[in-house]
Amino acid sequence: MTDVKHYLKFSDLTHDDYQHLFERARVLKRRHIRRELYRPLVGRVMSMIFEKNSTRTRVSFEAGMSQLGGHAMFLDSKSSQLGRGEPIEDTARVLSRMSDIIMIRTFEQSLVERLAAYSRVPVINGLTNEYHPCQILADIFTFIEQRGPIQGKTVAWIGDGNNMSRTWLEAARVLGFSLKVASPAGFELPEAERCDAPMLTAGNDPRAAVAGAHLVTTDVFTSMGYEAEAAERLKAFAGYQVDEALMSHAAADALFMHCLPAHRGEEVSAGVIDGPQSVVWDEAENRMHVQKALIEFLLLGRVND
Ligand code: CP
Ligand code: NVA
Repeated sequence: MTDVKHYLKFSDLTHDDYQHLFERARVLKRRHIRRELYRPLVGRVMSMIFEKNSTRTRVSFEAGMSQLGGHAMFLDSKSSQLGRGEPIEDTARVLSRMSDIIMIRTFEQSLVERLAAYSRVPVINGLTNEYHPCQILADIFTFIEQRGPIQGKTVAWIGDGNNMSRTWLEAARVLGFSLKVASPAGFELPEAERCDAPMLTAGNDPRAAVAGAHLVTTDVFTSMGYEAEAAERLKAFAGYQVDEALMSHAAADALFMHCLPAHRGEEVSAGVIDGPQSVVWDEAENRMHVQKALIEFLLLGRVND
């Protein structure tokens, strides 16, 4: 299915594609706020597969498809045949004959790649163990809304080498900004991913990562699928909370972001997430606007009306 465009990783799209998407998200957001109807997808259907929990991803895709005139349907592994061992390749063949686009949240990235390989229609990665491209798309759109272009700016990531930080690194490569990472020892991105990355500074010191940053961002200590490590992580991540003292080392106008859900008192203090530098609610809302732009792009190409 080589002529079908998928969004499995941030690096699947170019700098130029992102310029289009950010502009389109701005237009679609403005239309939504003005309650102007824009329904280019009447009669089109999205299948959404969730093998992990979700609030934002489910609601933003479902609301977004409705607003574009289409429909989204929810499948999980418990109530679908995926949970009884139907191969993902067969699922892809069937779903893509009945729907126009597929979104999947699952464990291994390789499963999403297998789904895409057998799908006749675009596949969107709604989070895997390895990547979360839709979230970083929303985060960067939010940064641009607040501060202008991200090119040349510095983003600080405080947390482990997970789906979010790996996607931030991809985005830094594609869009040309610096990424400074502080991870607890033993929870870094693998060495092979950290080398050959001139835009990345990686270490174990949160203060060094945050120094002068224009955006400070973090995530839960324990991502979905890693619950067995929760107690060990709670210990290892002591000292990695983004609090007011840490934020004071960032640029004076630095923003704070968190993909959510958040645990106040663990990875972030209540004072920071509920404070003046935090843009987490705009960040969450923007999932819907950027994903509408993404769906439009994958199904209709570069629309400019
Ligand atoms: N940030 C995010 O993906 O949220 P959900 O897990 O609620 O979808
Ligand atoms: N890293 C987190 C992100 C949740 C949106 C996880 O994978 O659970």
